[in-house]
Amino acid sequence: MFCIFWTAAPQMVSASVGTISFPVPQFSAADTNLYQYLPFPMGASVGIGRMKNNAKYSEVVSKEFNSITAENVMKFRALHPAENTFNWADADYLVDFAQKNGKRLHGHTLNWYQYLPAWVTNFSGDSIAWENMLKTHIQTVVAHFKGKVTSWDVVNEYFNDDGTIRPSVWVKNLGPDYIARCFQYAHEADPDAILFYNDYGHEYSSAKRTAIANLVNSFKTRGVPIHGVGMQFHMTHTQSDANINAAMAFAAGTGLKVHISELDVRVNVNKVKHLIFTDAMALQQADRFRFVVKAYNTAIPKAQQFGITTWNVGDADSWVPSWQGAPDYPLPFDANYLRKPAYKAIIEGGK
Ligand code: XIL
Repeated sequence: MFCIFWTAAPQMVSASVGTISFPVPQFSAADTNLYQYLPFPMGASVGIGRMKNNAKYSEVVSKEFNSITAENVMKFRALHPAENTFNWADADYLVDFAQKNGKRLHGHTLNWYQYLPAWVTNFSGDSIAWENMLKTHIQTVVAHFKGKVTSWDVVNEYFNDDGTIRPSVWVKNLGPDYIARCFQYAHEADPDAILFYNDYGHEYSSAKRTAIANLVNSFKTRGVPIHGVGMQFHMTHTQSDANINAAMAFAAGTGLKVHISELDVRVNVNKVKHLIFTDAMALQQADRFRFVVKAYNTAIPKAQQFGITTWNVGDADSWVPSWQGAPDYPLPFDANYLRKPAYKAIIEGGK
């Protein structure tokens, strides 16, 4: 029974996770807010459809988190669907929500090899035209959100897992050093914005860690404005302590702010078609959430702790099932926004 973890007297509600039902501790609105239990900002990425149309979802976001990231609506294709068209409405909706509810808003992402509109992938200009297009996009977006978005993932997933530079339309048309100019352009448009390099795989690829460390060092030497590293941490419930610790040691060593930017813990590593999310899986998953939060809080110096963000809120909102082509339950809330064992584990990890 998961309720044994709680000392307050919870109202018991029967929750269903997969096909298993078990009692989950629930608290009235005044009882707990996840972020208030943590010594650093605690965030979630949010989907615009649910924010607009699902009152329960936006209520949980507002109550439990003090930082939000746009899951998709600040990506290139969403904001800039045609060469001369910027589409601000959805992102501005999140700005408004963040301001009304006192939440930090993290921008994701100015430059990525994915989520591009066809006009960019088919763009036929020369390198000067490409540079102008890159700069215009970054500076128009950053200027629009100046003073409203605290921080940006400037470039996302520039490296392959083996530490080589990932082929992309950007590298192809602008050369590998375009990444430095992305940071410069963003900094010019909003000198107060905290600028991150965001990627995944720090917990399993030492080659990628080395590549990112080299990039950070080269930026520092050259005076390229970089202020943080985002570690996505889309991980599995079997990830080892040693690997998680290695990622934290790397991040602390950069001396920059560290954001665990897209945390989720998937359990269906074998991609079972009709997975039953067992109590044992829920506890193993909770244990990994606890370990990541504890390792972050212990290994990352206070001044470098930008916070932890989960990649969405409830299991039914997660990108993982469609990405891996099999069901999963990777988040701290279930499909009904009841708190899973992972919720309490996050609080314990922050102690
Ligand atoms: C994902 C979103 O969650 C999906 O809704 C979308 O279809 C594709 O992108 N790494 C990232 C995120 O940096 O932007 C990705 O988000 C997940 C992996």
